Amino acid sequence: MAPFMLCVICAFMLAACEESDSGISEIDIEAPTGYSLSAGTSTIFSTSSFAYDSEAEWVTGDLKKRFMRGDKLYDDARTSGNGYGGGLGPVYAGYSCGSCHRNAGRTRPALWEDTEGSGAYGFSSMLVYVTRKNGVFFQDYGRVLHDQAIYGVQPEGKLHVTRHYETFSFPDGDTYELCYPEYTITEWYADSVRPEDLFCSVRIPLRHVGMGQIMALDPGEIEALARKSNYPEWGISGRCNYIVERGRRQLGVGGNKAQHADLTVELGFSSDMGVTNSRYPEEICEGQRQMEQGSMMGLLYDELDISTEDMEDVDLYLQCLGVPARRGVNKKTVYRGEQLFYQAGCQLCHATTLHTRPRGTTLLKGTQLPWLGSQTIHPYSDFLLHDMGSEIMGVGLNDNYVSGLARGNEWRTTPLWGIGLQEKVNGHTYFLHDGRARNFVEAIMWHGGEGEASKNKFANMSRDDRNALIRFLESL
Ligand code: HEC
Ligand code: HEC
Repeated sequence: MAPFMLCVICAFMLAACEESDSGISEIDIEAPTGYSLSAGTSTIFSTSSFAYDSEAEWVTGDLKKRFMRGDKLYDDARTSGNGYGGGLGPVYAGYSCGSCHRNAGRTRPALWEDTEGSGAYGFSSMLVYVTRKNGVFFQDYGRVLHDQAIYGVQPEGKLHVTRHYETFSFPDGDTYELCYPEYTITEWYADSVRPEDLFCSVRIPLRHVGMGQIMALDPGEIEALARKSNYPEWGISGRCNYIVERGRRQLGVGGNKAQHADLTVELGFSSDMGVTNSRYPEEICEGQRQMEQGSMMGLLYDELDISTEDMEDVDLYLQCLGVPARRGVNKKTVYRGEQLFYQAGCQLCHATTLHTRPRGTTLLKGTQLPWLGSQTIHPYSDFLLHDMGSEIMGVGLNDNYVSGLARGNEWRTTPLWGIGLQEKVNGHTYFLHDGRARNFVEAIMWHGGEGEASKNKFANMSRDDRNALIRFLESL
């Protein structure tokens, strides 16, 4: 325990010596002990670009070996060959987990960087969900658009973006701009799907901060929060998503619509990369017309592309990641920003404190991680679904895409822990499910529906107060 406490003290001392942006030392305030410990004993004190991608202190010995192995399986680019490290495609969306979740974060969304309306022929790092307007999948395409393919195979289609911009004013006269990206898909490999028949929802990857803690959440605590999360004066009422798989009903906690009850390691390998496994033994392109041709049949091997042992190491890697401690917690502006965060009701959804269940978590093949149990954590999320509105710029955050019980306008509150390091880790500040917000102000100003009242509190603040609230977000 002693070296651990020492780290905490060091972190405070470092924070105390830091200078503010203006070069003037800020007056420090007394922060309560344990204040910056985002995830109990899994809290780490890295502020480097590896802050999301470093193991917790309790990861030693054999656990550490498996962590390193999982990290490698996660990051190494897969090949189209058969055997270890192979199995990519024939069609896919990314070539390794890390290709989209660089440094266990959010790979800079390449498509977003392209010039107006240009074709995105490169790799996007985004996931594109496609369905018919009646909710049924397109038979030849499945759930996710695979815009990449191995040599000799046609990608399913290509994604394009057109951006719409609008300038708005805060009550004090300051202006901000919002950008709404509209997506279209061309070069459908089989049918030409008509845009009017299609719903297309685009997602940028999520940060992996706190995956183990999220898996160790106590469903009872989240369900109690859903019963309690009813603030009529704010227009807020969160609800749970549930996933039924093989007759088992589980609380959804992962993904932008809380559409996942587990870490989706098997789904990631199968659906995102075409790597078959025990849970998803079929190739994602199975049944596609191009695969029925004799020359393509050789690409579909009978054996599974990755073993459950290997996937358990990836699971272990994700759940053993440390959660970065907050920085600058005793800076006056940061503290002021935190008070404003509460005044604006942000914590009514971005819940500050939760607890993990006593037994911790169990990985894919039964390995136990008791270290994740009985921890007080600060994820800044209630893991509930909220209606985020459909009004702003005529669309709001509604994507019309249904996931389990989540409707098009409903989203899981994104956990904010570690968000202040995203720029350091991934080199960008794109936020929200499709990365449409280019900075914190835009992310907040896209909040509508249940988030409307809270957003308006922020909009009505003085410029200094808005900046202080953002300084607080940067400290997470
Ligand atoms: C093509 C890019 C891409 C690839 C490849 C990819 N992911 Fe993801 N991942 C995403 C996106 C985008 C999301 C958000 C999905 C959503 O909410 O609909 C996501 C979500 C997740 C989540 C849920 C995170 C949370 O906070 O709830 C986990 C866990 C995850 N991915 C793990 C993996 C693993 C493990 C692999 C490799 C086996 C992988 N991903 C491969 C893009 C990718
Ligand atoms: C009604 C619930 C609710 C309230 C209140 C709320 N949020 Fe959110 N917040 C959400 C949801 C849901 C999302 C995810 C929306 C999406 O991705 O489309 C989100 C996303 C965000 C993001 C982007 C996170 C990321 O990594 O992409 C930030 C930043 C944020 N909120 C800050 C705030 C602040 C600051 C306040 C108070 C002014 C606030 N929120 C109030 C529900 C809420």
